[in-house]
Amino acid sequence: MKKRLLLISLLVLTFAFVGAVRAQDLSGQLEIFSWWAGDEGPALEALIALYNSQNPGVEVINATVTGGSGVNARAVLKTRMLGGTPPDTFQVHAGEELTGTWVVADRMEDLSDLYASEGWNEAFPADLIDLLTVDGGIYSVPVNIHRSNVLWYNPAKIAEWGVTVPATWDEFLAACPTFQEAGVIPLVVGEAWTVNHLWESVALGVLGADGWNGIWTGETAPAGEEMLGVWNKFNEVLACSNLGADSAGLSWQQAIDKVVAGEAAFNIMGDWAAGYMTTTLGLEPGTGFGFAAAPGTAGTFMWLSDSFGLPVGAPNVDNTIAWLKVLGSVEGQNAFNPLKGSIPARVDAVSAAPELYNAYLQSAAADWGSNRLVGSLVHGVAANERFMGDFNTVMEVFVASRSAEASANAMAAVCITSGACGG
Ligand code: GAL
Repeated sequence: MKKRLLLISLLVLTFAFVGAVRAQDLSGQLEIFSWWAGDEGPALEALIALYNSQNPGVEVINATVTGGSGVNARAVLKTRMLGGTPPDTFQVHAGEELTGTWVVADRMEDLSDLYASEGWNEAFPADLIDLLTVDGGIYSVPVNIHRSNVLWYNPAKIAEWGVTVPATWDEFLAACPTFQEAGVIPLVVGEAWTVNHLWESVALGVLGADGWNGIWTGETAPAGEEMLGVWNKFNEVLACSNLGADSAGLSWQQAIDKVVAGEAAFNIMGDWAAGYMTTTLGLEPGTGFGFAAAPGTAGTFMWLSDSFGLPVGAPNVDNTIAWLKVLGSVEGQNAFNPLKGSIPARVDAVSAAPELYNAYLQSAAADWGSNRLVGSLVHGVAANERFMGDFNTVMEVFVASRSAEASANAMAAVCITSGACGG
């Protein structure tokens, strides 16, 4: 009898041990949905490699839908989410794109327990966590901080042309004829969303940080004098661009290529452009490419953050939690950001491995710590999806009419229908 009892206890212990090992030994699949395809892929692939090394039994499906700023991916995601076939996890911008679209519709799981167990409430800036939080629930894990308001140029060409990097839009406009006479595009834009991207930097330059924030609180009237000033300046700036020539066919990378090749003098783009120029093109910041705050925006950092969450109904919950743990870790953030052109969202990651961060990223990290911070519109922070979608129509009105009044009135209407402009 004693022997039998001992045998049973041994068996129970053995099963318990095997069970414990199995619980950590994840298997099955993990579908990660994003728009980081092609040239945008290396940083995500580094994160996936780290995940694979920790979870060799999981098959990762890297589901990407090409198209800068997620123009195509977001539409596909919407169909899947509404159709009840969500991916395990998906790229979503911190701020309104997450909270005003998916959290409000009860489509995301609350991750606040994970935040507590991983120590993330201290690891991420409180202001950033606030933008992921609704009624005490926290709904995604941020992997980076990108900057929207950056002016890119080729330092060798700028020296050759004998011009200085413009600190204001008026300085840029004064230099515009010099480039045009030399057959150089003064400011290159690409497909439609990159024009919106330029707009937010011009608006910030004209309105300043308070004026920009005022759009979203109702203090800056969408059809008031200040906003008319934005549209008028935007009109002048675009007269010094390739809009309407070859712009519509250019991806953001192809627009940057024109700057690198000396066919265009400047481009305004988020600092994923730094990731592209260093990781894909092999250029060095400072020599291979130059960077400055978009004209009129020095001292202000227009930010955005890519994050991932756990949708309600995700097929592989444990595998997704393991993924979120990787991308919220110091190791994960340091695998991803040096390749991406962004800085870590975690406050302790750069100091853990400063040698990974090049001169551009060091300067972005310093600015993130010292500048005035404002949220990007085009990349999901400032306004809900309704506004973002309808703003495309406002831009179409502008491009067709080139009228500041018509554009400002269209924006005022969108403010009302979306409810995104405070008041
Ligand atoms: C942004 C995104 C960046 C980058 C960029 C260009 O919206 O936050 O990580 O992917 O689009 O596609």
